[in-house]
Amino acid sequence: MCGIVGVLGNHEAAPLLVEALKRLEYRGYDSAGIATVNKGRLDRRRAVGKLVNLSDLLVHEPLAGKAGIGHTRWATHGAATVTNAHPHRAGPVAVVHNGIIENFRELREELATHGLVQESQTDTETVALLAQMYMSRGMTPVEAARATLGRLHGAFALCFLFDGHDDLMIAARKGSPLAIGHGKGEMFVGSDAIALAPMTDRITYLEEGDWAVITRSGAEIFDAEDRRANRAETRIQIDAARIEKGGYKHFMAKEIAEQPVVIADALKHYTTPEGGLRLPEGVDFKGVDRITMVACGTASYACHVAKYWFEQIAGLPAEIDIASEFRYREPPLSGQSWAVFVSQSGETADTLAALRYARDKVARIVSVVNVPTSSIARESDLSLPILAGVEVGVASTKAFTCQLTVLALMAVKAGLDRGRLTAEQAAAHLGSLRNLPGLMNHALGLSGVIAEVAEELAEAQDVLFLGRGAMYPLALEGALKLKEISYIHAEGYASGELKHGPIALIDARVPVIVLAPRDGLFDKTVSNMQEVMARHGKVLLISDAAGVEEAGAGVWKTLVLPEVEAAFAPILYAVPAQLLAYHTAIAKGTDVDQPRNLAKSVTVE
Ligand code: AGP
Repeated sequence: MCGIVGVLGNHEAAPLLVEALKRLEYRGYDSAGIATVNKGRLDRRRAVGKLVNLSDLLVHEPLAGKAGIGHTRWATHGAATVTNAHPHRAGPVAVVHNGIIENFRELREELATHGLVQESQTDTETVALLAQMYMSRGMTPVEAARATLGRLHGAFALCFLFDGHDDLMIAARKGSPLAIGHGKGEMFVGSDAIALAPMTDRITYLEEGDWAVITRSGAEIFDAEDRRANRAETRIQIDAARIEKGGYKHFMAKEIAEQPVVIADALKHYTTPEGGLRLPEGVDFKGVDRITMVACGTASYACHVAKYWFEQIAGLPAEIDIASEFRYREPPLSGQSWAVFVSQSGETADTLAALRYARDKVARIVSVVNVPTSSIARESDLSLPILAGVEVGVASTKAFTCQLTVLALMAVKAGLDRGRLTAEQAAAHLGSLRNLPGLMNHALGLSGVIAEVAEELAEAQDVLFLGRGAMYPLALEGALKLKEISYIHAEGYASGELKHGPIALIDARVPVIVLAPRDGLFDKTVSNMQEVMARHGKVLLISDAAGVEEAGAGVWKTLVLPEVEAAFAPILYAVPAQLLAYHTAIAKGTDVDQPRNLAKSVTVE
């Protein structure tokens, strides 16, 4: 997945393109590039690594022109090299692309028979070469782009720019999102509205199969059958200031610290001043026989936690699938069930594909997303924003706890709708949720102590996280956080599962982080912890004061959290898990906000 941007402006395009790419770097940061048309002449600059390298290059080799396209890359085909960086150019055509062209090998062979040979290993250069071939046969840029689009299989968002044309861009969307921005005598294209926020708040989203001919006077949009299509223009509210670090060293640190506030915001939004629930009208679980929750990565762990809530609080059967497996498994879905898709970005390709698989097979498609204008939100029957605000750090933190908060509220509603909770019981759960922001502030206060523990944790080769019940998925999430930003191998296990194999890994060098609030499963978790200690494992026990008092003797380290209603402990315990990963990454000197090989939004399968 990559970020793409296009500008037909009245000012120099290069600074605008770079600024927009900065906002799209969450989609990839292996390489970046821009192309412009200046006095009719198409030219480009590309650099490997982060955007700052492209900016440096542009200082020495500036690129003039008021029309341009730009790209930030997450490599799919071919390593991160200048040759593989976008924009790709073939003769008069430059193109930027997000997605995968699945038939590019056949196309490449066909092009070679016409003497058109690729210099890069990418699927994107094939697109540029195809358009070049069609133009060399006398087609106009618009005709050539249209003919090219007709040859492509797979998922893509594309933006074309042409030599000799400084008032023309062609944009196309199939499977990967693309937005067109409207200015005053200026037009823009971007992978999302956030990229375009400094330039315009007037956005038109292309729909599946759409392609658009864009000039400074507007965009002519066509559907997949080449019929003129009317797509609504919407005004987007994106607070540009929220995409700043606000005094923190890293976005991740800022986003961890924001959690009490954003969770309080989400609770305020979805509850009444009197403390009752205020979920959207369609959130009514009467007659629903089960829910299937589908997501990827951290969002899928939020679903795993919520499964305990839907089952225990509401008695509602809940299934979880990771999105990349879901549709290929061809699961039978009940017509009385809901399919719930959870995603921070709302653009994750696997989750979106899973949503499309479930459409027409279930009673309702519900999404829980952070970006309310995203594809997943727009393609759902009902979408609940988690209101976490823009999350920039690749490691998802505040989105996770806000997802949990919204899912917890839904579980309480399900309990009421299904007659499993009395009004008093529901009010007690809501009261516990309202206490969370305060408790999380307390947990954030442990940051200094956690930084000290992290100095030692940074020496480890392998780390295990253990938890029982709803703390088990949190163990999975803690391990994911640690491995993705500190590059330390980490695994999460249900603590009772340890003895069935993973205990063979335990020795004095393996830190084992035990997530154990003093709940009904505490004694069992402690027994598993003792099994680790008997094998010289280094245990970090995270519990409340009573838990640490009871079981803390002889462990390597302890972290004491405030008491919390057992069901919602995963929301609170997420904070030390996130801080451990953060401080360990700092101790190791890794790139916290943009860890290697990753991207924030994964828009390829
Ligand atoms: C979390 O830290 C991740 N980087 C990743 O697992 C993420 O949660 C996953 O890719 C899903 O993204 P989404 O929530 O935007 O769909």
